[in-house]
Amino acid sequence: MKIDIVVAPRLYQPVMERLGSEFTIHSLWDAKEPLSFLASVAERARGFASFTGYPVPATMIEALPKLEIIATMSVGTDHIDLAAAKARGIAVTNAPDVLTDCVADLGMGLTINLARQLVAADRFVRAGEWTNGLFPLATKLGGATMGIVGLGRIGKAVAKRAEAFGMRIVYYGRRRASEIVYPFYDDLITMARDSDYLMLTCPGGAATRNLIGATVMAALGPEGVLINIARGSVVDQPALIAALQSRQLGGAALDVYADEPRVPEALTKLDNVVLAPHIASATHATRRAMGDLMIDNLLAHFAGKPLLTPVS
Ligand code: DGY
Repeated sequence: MKIDIVVAPRLYQPVMERLGSEFTIHSLWDAKEPLSFLASVAERARGFASFTGYPVPATMIEALPKLEIIATMSVGTDHIDLAAAKARGIAVTNAPDVLTDCVADLGMGLTINLARQLVAADRFVRAGEWTNGLFPLATKLGGATMGIVGLGRIGKAVAKRAEAFGMRIVYYGRRRASEIVYPFYDDLITMARDSDYLMLTCPGGAATRNLIGATVMAALGPEGVLINIARGSVVDQPALIAALQSRQLGGAALDVYADEPRVPEALTKLDNVVLAPHIASATHATRRAMGDLMIDNLLAHFAGKPLLTPVS
């Protein structure tokens, strides 16, 4: 007998196929009334396969009395009410490490894109403007300082790449990491002032909500660039738009937004931004690895084995 699990959102097709071969799947993402849907499977559903972008609030957790585990194929867990899960003794697992390289690649890609104006350059060539004159000069990355907010696994992977481009790395976090040689700042505003590029790689959630506000952006300044591959919630989005519009902030390269998939029209009108639709981990190999890790966690749990990547 296959174990029943709830799934939302609809996941990458190869992951759905493997999930379907191991479990009986209940497609919550299709439900018009999610809580009524959960009530209909409440006596059977023992697992929840989840992903960023589809919140798992306390109401959903309460609606599933037999729930034992929520396994997300994201590294981020800010879409899950962890306190509600903990209160019920429900295990939570995530998918760290397997996406680190792809997320760091995109962070660096966005950085190069903005510094060298690749999107604008592409538009310039397609529009036939080259025959009318040269494309404006852009900004050199080598020698510039990248300030990394949250030097965890992904932050370190970005640092490695940025160093290869000749950038100087500094970082801000809750504490200095003893094994890290990069200069540490315990004050974010000072680090922003000393940085040309501010790279956000910290987790989302209550602890980092609006961490990057108007003051940090002003410190980064008219020549400074913000790159966000963390979570939209980390940035005060209205303040970001205002700073970009007034050119108090030089530019922004964003993969994440406050209310995805809605992106404020004001951002799309600015020429000093590069916008991506939350794709940092979105490669076939990485999504497959993230899905496999999630499924392996579910299988380990139901086999009574230790979880591979539990969230404490
Ligand atoms: C994550 O894993 O948290 C990413 O944001 C998913 O793309």
